[in-house]
Amino acid sequence: MKKIVVFASGSGSNFQTIVEKLHQKECEVALLVCDQPGAYCLERAKHLSIPTFTFNPKSYETKADFEKEICKQLEIIHPDLIVLAGYMRLIGETLLEAYEGKIINIHPALLPAFPGRDGIGDALKYGVKVMGVTVHYVDAGIDTGKIIDQACFKRTENETKEEIETRIHALEHELYPQVIAKLLKA
Ligand code: GRF
Repeated sequence: MKKIVVFASGSGSNFQTIVEKLHQKECEVALLVCDQPGAYCLERAKHLSIPTFTFNPKSYETKADFEKEICKQLEIIHPDLIVLAGYMRLIGETLLEAYEGKIINIHPALLPAFPGRDGIGDALKYGVKVMGVTVHYVDAGIDTGKIIDQACFKRTENETKEEIETRIHALEHELYPQVIAKLLKA
């Protein structure tokens, strides 16, 4: 069975959905990598019985140093795909070189519009009428890698930011597992 490793920094709702929809069916979710000790995704991993590797970036001098540690963990697993799901950190050269073309991310906006930390807020400020999510390959830039797939919806005038966030998350939970399963089959 193919193996994936998920990277997350926060709540981990995408991580949980990926495990629930794909683990032991389409692939093995072999590890959760987390850069935030105390993040809720680690609780989810515990309940889902997925092994975790947590590190504190502040304990390392450079990004290359902590990415080397991550690589050591990944070398044991040999993942077919690395899935970023709310990992709030740019991937550095060390990981990019070791896993070129094998790292994907989900972004809560229709790239190339609204990259960066607050894709939903930026899209709303701009006043867009159609919103959506993008799955893309990861390169050295901020949400600049080749687009793999997108999904969208038309927002209604009176929807609050919270309601939109809920819709975006629901869309992510549909799209991301589908894309992962498809990539693993290719
Ligand atoms: C998602 O909206 C994703 O698009 C973005 O970070 C968020 C993570 O949410 N990259 P969660 O931690 O999976 O709930």
